[in-house]
Order: sequence, then structure tokens, then C-alpha cells
Amino acid sequence: MTKICDTQSPKKNDQGTMIPLFKVFMPESVKKPLIDTLMSGYIGQGPRVEEFESLLSKWIRNSNVLTVNAGTSALHLAYHMIIENSGDEIITTPMTCTATNTPIVNTKGGKIVWADVDPYTGLIDPDDIEKKITPRTKGIVMVHLGGNPCDIDRINEIAKKHNLKTIEDAAHAFGSTYKGRRLGNNTSDFVMFSFQAIKHLTTIDGGALITKSKDDYKRGKLLRWYGIDREIKSEDLRCEEDVKEAGYKFHMNDVCAVVGVEMMKYVEEIIAKHRANAKFYNDNLKVDYVKESSDGKSAYWMYTIHIKGGRRDEFIRYMKDNGVLVSKVHSRNDTHTMFKDFKAELPGLEEYYKSMCSIPVGWWLAEKECVKIADLVNKF
Ligand SMILES: Cc1ncc(COP(=O)(O)O)c(C=O)c1O
Repeated sequence: MTKICDTQSPKKNDQGTMIPLFKVFMPESVKKPLIDTLMSGYIGQGPRVEEFESLLSKWIRNSNVLTVNAGTSALHLAYHMIIENSGDEIITTPMTCTATNTPIVNTKGGKIVWADVDPYTGLIDPDDIEKKITPRTKGIVMVHLGGNPCDIDRINEIAKKHNLKTIEDAAHAFGSTYKGRRLGNNTSDFVMFSFQAIKHLTTIDGGALITKSKDDYKRGKLLRWYGIDREIKSEDLRCEEDVKEAGYKFHMNDVCAVVGVEMMKYVEEIIAKHRANAKFYNDNLKVDYVKESSDGKSAYWMYTIHIKGGRRDEFIRYMKDNGVLVSKVHSRNDTHTMFKDFKAELPGLEEYYKSMCSIPVGWWLAEKECVKIADLVNKF
């Protein structure tokens, strides 16, 4: 992987150089376009945002791409378009970043209903989704944990049967595929990506909402900018026409977008390196690891193994003592005080949460580091 230049030195601690679990990829080549944009006199939402959206559209093969200032904002827009009244329910997974779920409770009094997860993959369980549907259910969220695609078709079939909307939280899954198609290529009603600092593709902070329908795209486009139609030419340059629905200030700006445009040149290579490192682990690890879903290919933002026998926390300390950062990455969301009103029996989650642990897998690992990590895991 010759094109990728690593401009940052790894974190140091008492043990010397640590192998990080995540790392920001920022190529030297971003400097010129970034400075040009900063000094161009146009740093808000402008031509670079359009250019980035058009690159994303081609890559995903869907023209309904809305960039925003964070993945969380993309989810917020989707929930805004699904939740109508206080008490409307969204079925979701507790095994994720809190950002998947906080916008539900922050949208018009939306309510969370937890579905259980597969005890092995941590992915939302379609059978449990079906059991959790009530007359108040409006939507289903699936999170492609670590990049590993959920059972998208099955979940969409359930949604169709009950007239519900589907959202894919693909924050970890830029470049993952399902049945040969990149996520976002008409897989669900809404698909969200995160371009936050440590993702495969970063815009410093940022995200995208991809919609299946043109109407949702048009509504989302208004909502991301206060509800104002920026394409109407008004008599007075600064004054908007009548605004029909109150929106947000969620748009992306040209400074972030120009970083995204540059990153698009590297992202396939970054994903390929994550996948190659994952394959090395698949071939060499002697512990249980999370396998790719049968219809999906993971972009491997995370590589998750199971450390059984109640020894996971000991494993985290052991790896750190040997210079490798590993982690659970996300806490189960259902035990947070902020979600105390939403309780459920979740035996699959109990099982998954006891033993899962993610090890470094990203573009920054040289072969000798993958060998070191695999040896350490196998020795434990
Ligand atoms: C699964 C998941 N969903 C949503 C988000 C929120 O994305 P962002 O940080 O871009 O707002 C994250 C953040 O990394 C995430 O991991």
C-alpha cells in the first residue's frame, strides 16, 4: 500500500510504543486543496459539498445523497422523517454507539424499544424485531456493527409486512457490501454514514444520509438547512421564502467536504487494507472471532473476537501491558440512565457482551504488527 502515507507517530506510554486500536488517516496531499478552500472566500456549504456528494453518489450508486455535519445528524434527520408523534416507537439495538439511539429520544418524544442481538455477532436479531412490533412502531434501526452487514433483506421484509421504515446505521460500514451491492445502494429507506475522525473516510466530522425515495431526499435537503429551500432564487439574496417545516443546521461545509473529496482517492485502498488484515487474523487466530454475515462483506472497521471464561477484562490488561490497545469499543446502551424508561430482557446481548473484544485491524498495521497481535491473542 504505497499511496498511504502515515503522518502521525503512534501513541507512547510507559510500555513504549503502543499499537493503537483506531487511527486518523490524513494524507499530506490534503494540504493544498484544504488551504485553497480555506482562503477561497467560500467556506460554508458550496461547490466542494456538491463535488463530495457527487463522488459519493457515484461510489454508492444512488443519487439521493445528503452530506451533513455528523453521522448523528444524519440519523436525527431520518428519525425526524419517521417519528410523527410523541410515543411513536423505534425498534433498535442496544449494542452500538449511543449516537444511534440518543436522537430517537430527542425527536418529538420518540420511544426506544430494544430488540435483542445475536450472541455471536452482536447484530440485531430479526426474530426478536418481529416480536417487538406494536401498533406504535414506526421504524427499525439496524447497526452494521464493526462493518459487518445485518440481515438487511429479512429486516426490510419484516418492515414491509408491517408498513414500517428501515434505517441502516452504517457508521462503521463505509464500503461494506450486501449481496454484492455497496450499502446505500437502495438497501433500506435510510442509510447513514459517519465521516468522524477515525472512520475509514474522514471529513474531520461529518456524515451522510442516503435515502431510497426522492421525496425523502428533497425533504431531508430542506431539513438539514433550517427547512429553507436554498435553490429558490429570492428577490433579496439573504431572505428566504416561506418556510413550511422547522429544520436544523446540519449541513456540511466546504472545508470538511474538501477533506472528503481528497479522502475518496484513498478510501478503497484503506478498506482493502482493513480486509487484508482481517483475513490474516481469520487464517491465524485460534480463538472464536466474529465471521462475516453470509450475504455481506465487512469493511472491518472493527475486528471482534470472543474471550471466553470471564477473562475478557484480564485480556484487555494483558494486551495493553504488551503494547496493544484493545477494547469493547461500545457499551451496551440499555443500562444507561438516560434510557432507564426502556427495559427489556436481552439474553443474546448478555451473552455477547460478556466476551466480545475488538483488536486493531486497520490500515496502519504492518504485517509484523498483525503477527505480534495474533501471537499475543493465541498465547493468552
Ligand atoms: C454505530 C455508530 N452510529 C453513529 C455514530 C455517530 O456518528 P458521528 O460521530 O459521525 O456523529 C457513531 C460514531 O462513531 C457510531 O459508531
